[in-house]
Parts: sequence; C-alpha cells; structure tokens
Amino acid sequence: MTELLVRGRVLTFTDEPQNAQDTQSYKYLEDGAVLIKDGKITKLGDYSAVSLVASEDVRIVDHRPNLILPGFIDTHIHYPQTQIMASYAGNLLDWLNTHTFVAEQKFRDEQHAQSIADRFLDELIDNGTTTAVAYCSVHPQSADAYFRASQARNMRMIGGKVMMDRNAPEALRDTAQTGYDETKDLIQRWHGVDRLAYAISPRFAITSTPEQLELSGALVREYPECYVQTHLSENRDEIEFTKSLYSEMPDYLGIYEHYGLLGYKTLLGHSIHLEDRELGIMAETRSVAVFCPTSNLFLGSGLFDRDRVEAAGVRVSVATDVGAGTSFSMLRTMDEAYKIMQLQQQRLNPLQSFYMMTLGNARALSLEDKIGTLEEGTEADLVVLDSAATSSARLRTRDDFDLEQELFLLQTLGDDRFVVQTYIAGKAMKDK
Ligand code: GUN
Ligand code: ZN
Repeated sequence: MTELLVRGRVLTFTDEPQNAQDTQSYKYLEDGAVLIKDGKITKLGDYSAVSLVASEDVRIVDHRPNLILPGFIDTHIHYPQTQIMASYAGNLLDWLNTHTFVAEQKFRDEQHAQSIADRFLDELIDNGTTTAVAYCSVHPQSADAYFRASQARNMRMIGGKVMMDRNAPEALRDTAQTGYDETKDLIQRWHGVDRLAYAISPRFAITSTPEQLELSGALVREYPECYVQTHLSENRDEIEFTKSLYSEMPDYLGIYEHYGLLGYKTLLGHSIHLEDRELGIMAETRSVAVFCPTSNLFLGSGLFDRDRVEAAGVRVSVATDVGAGTSFSMLRTMDEAYKIMQLQQQRLNPLQSFYMMTLGNARALSLEDKIGTLEEGTEADLVVLDSAATSSARLRTRDDFDLEQELFLLQTLGDDRFVVQTYIAGKAMKDK
C-alpha cells in the first residue's frame, strides 16, 4: 500500500500534564507530519525530516494551519440510545423507564439495529471519535450489528450486550443463564477479531439478580482479557434502591466487588456519590471511574468530584454517555467537564482536557501502546481540528493565542463543525 503523509500542526501527549504550563507532557510540532503505512504510524516529526524518509510515491495531505491530534476516545456510550438524546424526563430512573427502555426494545429487530449502528458510528466519526466503549441492548443481535458496523469501518471498538434479568420490561429481560450463554457466544464471535474487543456488561445492580451477577463474575474469570462495564452511584434514588436490593452488602461498590467484577479492565460509569471505602477498593483493584459530564448535568445526577477521586489514587476517564449525554462530541463533553470543576472550585486546564480525551482515555483502556498518541508503531487514528471553523470562533481575539488558549477555545466553542477530518487506520473518513 502507498504511504500517506499528513502535514499540519501536530500535538500528541506523552504523559499527564501536571499543570497548565507543563510543556514536558506533550510534543507539539508547528510544521509537523505523520507518515502512515498499512494503517500504522511509521514516522512522526517535523515535516522536513519526515518528508525525507517518505517513499517517492507518497500521497501528501496538507492540513495546515489545522491541528492534527490522536483521535478522541469515548469510554462510555449507549448506541441504542442514539435516537433518544434530548428526551424530556425527570432524573435517572424516570428517564430510563420513560425513554430508554422504550427505545431499546426496537433493537430486537436486527435491521433496525444495523441501521442505527451504522449511523451511530458515522456520528462518532463526524465528531472525531475513533474509539468508543458502547453498551448494546439486551439482544445479542444488537451487539452483532454493532461489531459488524465497526468491523466494516476498521475501527478499534469495544462493546457488549447488556445483561438485565429484573426491573426492566419483559421484552428487555434475559435470564441469568441466557445472559451468560449469549455473552459467551458473542465473546467467541467478536473478541479479538480485527480491532474489536468485548465488554461483559451487567447493566447495573438494579437490573441484575444476584444469580446474574454471579454468572457475570464467572464470565470475568473465564475471559479475563475482556473488559467489564457497568454503572455505579450515579443518582441518590438509584443508590437507595440498589441498597434495598442488596442490603447485606457494605455499599454499592461492594456488590460488584463481591461478585468479582472489579479489576483494571473494569469501567464504572458515573461513580459520583462514593464512600471512602468504595474509593479505596476502586484504587486497590485499579478499576476506572468514568466521568460523564453532559449526562450528569442533563439528569441532575450530581457533580463528579475529580480531585477527591484522583487524590484517592483512582483511575479516571471521561465519556459522553449518549443518550443521557447531550452530545457525541468529546469537545462539548470537556466544556461541561470544565464547568463541573468550576462549580467545585477545581481546575481543569485545557492541556489536561486534551490529554484526557486521547492518551488519558487510552490508558484507562490499557490501550496506550495502540491508540491515544501519534507515536511510531501505533494505529493511525487521527483527528484534524480547525479552531476557526465558525464565525464566533473567528471573532475570538487571537492576540493572546498560544497553544493552550487555542485548545481552550476548541473545547469551549467546539463541536463537529470544528472536525475537518477523521482518519481511521490511515483512511480519511469524513467528507467535506
Ligand atoms: N444506569 C443504568 N442504565 C443507564 C443508562 O442507560 N444511562 C445512564 N445514564 N445510567 C444508567
Ligand atoms: Zn450509561
């Protein structure tokens, strides 16, 4: 295959920024280039140096003056909720019953699932997201549709069918045994195929019987290479209901702990209202707290206390949580994250935000050797951003413009209009 050289201003993180001036945490190349062959990055550097090693028939795409970054990563999203963003309801449990559980029933129909999976992935790509971890519906055919659509685009995607055997409409329930069997089948069909990976997905403690969580734990033991995703302490009413169902457990997290669901591949959506004991166990097991800013504001769930969670040594990632999340855009997501920090007198500087969407989330998925940076040998998933994409962005004075200010503008005003191009394994996916 011929080589592709992508030229522009290049930014990639090498570590978590410690403060807003931490220039050691990233590489920034004013006239940079990324050389790509067979879906992988073969060279990163100044254009002058990279062009010297490129083959004679290299294809060059000049994105100057735009910024080239690693593609964004979204660690918690529900693909069957693509059509219910912006649905009016009260808080979490009300919203689930009124909208979510209605929409998810349609995914019994595999054609519907295929059509929404395709459109879901197109939305991600339009927004510069190149990897996501998604919940599918309870129907195994919804997961098949999701993985097929991801495979067709050659995307690095993670997902799994939710398991729910109580407190959900009859049409959305599996049983402890069928949930186990169907999950096992899906793992065998899809985990490790091309760029795909499976996430064992008991939806949350409310919708699973102890038998189902027991069998979920059995799956984790049988397939330790798979991810685990579930929800934790999102909403006060949810926590009360959960505790009433599992009254013998010390706290909400204690349920997942008891059934062997915690570990470095476990993603715990929301993790807002946590006890000190729960934070200690999350740190010990290296489980990941997944911060979902737009969703937490939309459902009035609460304010994620990032400083407290990080001080406890817990790994943190960030996600949209569409359809309670109100945008597919990781830029919109970081804008709301910033505001949630402001309300708690916490600081989230733009370097940290861009780290979180890329290398930070790759580390949360233990995939930093494959995605989340532009280092040589990694997969060529890239996003190209134009910080002057809209008239209001162009009006913003640029007298003080340095990299940090530009990133802050991108996260504060940015959305899919600012995404000029998205590359998946070296292939340009966005027509403009
Ligand atoms: N908790 C259990 N299921 C869901 C869901 O679909 N969305 C959100 N935000 N929280 C949940
Ligand atoms: Zn969720």
